Amino acid sequence: MKVMILYGQSLSLNVRDLAEAAERLGHEVLLGSILNMSSYVDSEVSRFWLGTREVMDIDVCLLRSFGPGSCEELTRRISMVEHMEFAGIRVVNPCYPFRRARDKYATQYVLAKAGLPVARTFTTESIYRGYEMAKEFGESVYKPILGSRGYGSLKFSDPDLAFDAYKMLTRVGQPLVIQEYIPNPGRDIRVFVVGEEAVASAYKYRAGGTWKTNVAQGGRMVAEEVP
Ligand SMILES: Nc1ncnc2c1ncn2[C@@H]1O[C@H](COP(=O)(O)OP(=O)(O)O)[C@@H](O)[C@H]1O
Ligand SMILES: [Mg+2]
Repeated sequence: MKVMILYGQSLSLNVRDLAEAAERLGHEVLLGSILNMSSYVDSEVSRFWLGTREVMDIDVCLLRSFGPGSCEELTRRISMVEHMEFAGIRVVNPCYPFRRARDKYATQYVLAKAGLPVARTFTTESIYRGYEMAKEFGESVYKPILGSRGYGSLKFSDPDLAFDAYKMLTRVGQPLVIQEYIPNPGRDIRVFVVGEEAVASAYKYRAGGTWKTNVAQGGRMVAEEVP
């Protein structure tokens, strides 16, 4: 198969692993940044390029990131991925599920709609509304709407500390995603679902001194059957 792997601004270790694994399995790999993609549409055809290479002949596009950028740049990239799907390119994960999984706000309402229990989550751009919620939650968590690997998530037991953080965050254009803190027994559960099927699961143990279980924050992920 011809596999295109699209990353954001820079090539991460994960993406490199993915490319190597695909090559080992005998696939032809085209690796590039989504920032270098160009597209064209008229009433008859849709065309896409990675740099100067046209890429209509690929069998699957593994989408890893939309990359950093302005609202307008991101709008073009998100539309371009949807356009690729409309043009018959198989994108994994597809544009909208990918977007929802990256966006911590969207993840909550999608999971809630699917009938799963979710943490009480409040979003706002008002530091005063955020402050009221931090008080109501008692222990609260702020998370960057597009965060990952635990970077930038903050836990507060003092609503005034939360307020000061909100003030600085909103000044640099960050919306506030505020959640109730849910105590756990030192570990989280991660379940990988493909379609309707749970295909693998793991326990994620947190490192001492932190409330986050991310491997990037010193946590440990251990494959384990979940009942
Ligand atoms: N509301 C919460 N209550 C308790 N722990 C949380 C809460 N939200 C996040 N965490 C912890 O912080 C970690 C990072 O949060 P998460 O929302 O998964 O962001 P990221 O995408 O950065 O991993 C989680 O793995 C979990 O251990
Ligand atoms: Mg996480």
